[in-house]
Amino acid sequence: MAGNVSEPGSRILGTGHYLPSKILTNQDLEKVMDTTDEWIVSRSGIRQRHIAAPEQASSDLATQAAQRALEAAGISAKDLDLIIVGTVTPDLPLPSTAMFVQRNLGTRKDCPGFDLTAACAGFIYGLSIADAFIRSGFATHVLVIGVELLSRIINWEDRSTCVLFGDGAGAVVVGPATGDGRGVLSTHIYGDGSMIDALKIPGGGSRMPFSQEVLNNKLHLVQMVGVDVFKYAVKALTASVQTALAKNHLAPSDVDWVIPHQANLRILEAVQHRTGIPKERFFINIDQTANTSSASVPIALDQAVRAGKVLPGQSLVFCALGGGIAWGSALVRW
Ligand code: UT7
Repeated sequence: MAGNVSEPGSRILGTGHYLPSKILTNQDLEKVMDTTDEWIVSRSGIRQRHIAAPEQASSDLATQAAQRALEAAGISAKDLDLIIVGTVTPDLPLPSTAMFVQRNLGTRKDCPGFDLTAACAGFIYGLSIADAFIRSGFATHVLVIGVELLSRIINWEDRSTCVLFGDGAGAVVVGPATGDGRGVLSTHIYGDGSMIDALKIPGGGSRMPFSQEVLNNKLHLVQMVGVDVFKYAVKALTASVQTALAKNHLAPSDVDWVIPHQANLRILEAVQHRTGIPKERFFINIDQTANTSSASVPIALDQAVRAGKVLPGQSLVFCALGGGIAWGSALVRW
C-alpha cells in the first residue's frame, strides 16, 4: 500500500530519542552465556545494547523521547491532536501505552492516542498514519513514537535471539507541510501474514492465555527463525526502498541518507549492494543500540539530525521490517 505520492502534506517538525543509561556489552554476555563477541559482531554488527532500569516501563522511555521531540519542534504538548505509539512491549495489555504518554506529557485531556503493533515497522506505519491524518485535516500535530523494552520479552536462555535486541525510544512530531517541497513525500507499508511463525510470541494472548504452562515453556517470550526473517528482509527492504525511489522519480544517487531499521549489519550491506545506494549514505548505529524494533528508525533519525548530518532539502529514505512480517519505507525531503 502506498500513500501520498505528490506534494508533501506533512513534515517532521522535531525529533527526539531516549536510551537507558545501563549498557550491556557483548563481553558482559560472554560471561553469562555460551557466546562470543566475535560471533555477535561478525553475524550482526552489534557490540552493545542499552537495558532499561527495573522501575522503567515503555511509557517512561517514550515520554523522554517525546519531550525532546516536542522541544525540537517548538510546540507544546497541548498542541498535540493525536499520539501514536508503535510498540510490542506496552506498559500493560490494557490500556494503551499512548494513554500513559498522554498523562505524562500533560496534553489536552481529550487528546486521542493508540498503540500500533507492527513490530519493527511500527514507526513507519505510524508515520504513514500521521501523514494521512494531517493530509485529511483530521489532525494538525501528531506525535509518533517507537518504543521497546525488548529486554523484558526476550528469552535470555536463547542465545540465537537474546544477543540481538536492546531497549530504547524514538519520537517525532509531525505537522503540516508549508508548501516549500519539504516533508513526507510518500509512505509505503506492507504485511505478509503467511510469515507469522517466523517471529512471534506464542503465549500470553487470546490464542494461548497466560498459564503455568506458558510460563514453564517460556512461550510468553520472543521466538524467531532468524534465517527466514533475514532472507525475507533483504528482498522486502530492497523492494520497498526501490518503490519509494521509483514513485518519487529519484535515482539511488539522489538519496542523501537511508535511515534504516537496525536489525543486522549484513542485511543492510545486502540492501546497499542491491539498491546501489552507497554504504556511506546509510546511517548505522546498530553497534551501539542493537535491534530496538519500532524505536530503531526514530532513534537513528534523531541521532543523525542532532549530529548535524541531516540538512534541509536532503532526501531521506526510511525502511524497516519485522514480525508479521510487516515492513515499509518512506521518502522524506528534510
Ligand atoms: O528486527 C526484526 C527482524 N529480525 C531480523 O531481521 C533478524 C534476522 N536474522 C538474523 O539477523 C540472523 O539470522 C541471525 C543473526 C539471527 C543469525 O545469523 P545466521 O548467520 O543466520 O546464524 P545461524 O542462525 O545460522 O547460526 C549459526 C550458528 C549455529 O551453530 P551451528 O548449528 O552452525 O553449529 C548457532 O547455534 O551459530 C550458532 N549461534 C551462536 N553462536 C554463538 C547462534 N547464536 C549464537 C550466539 N553465539 N549468540
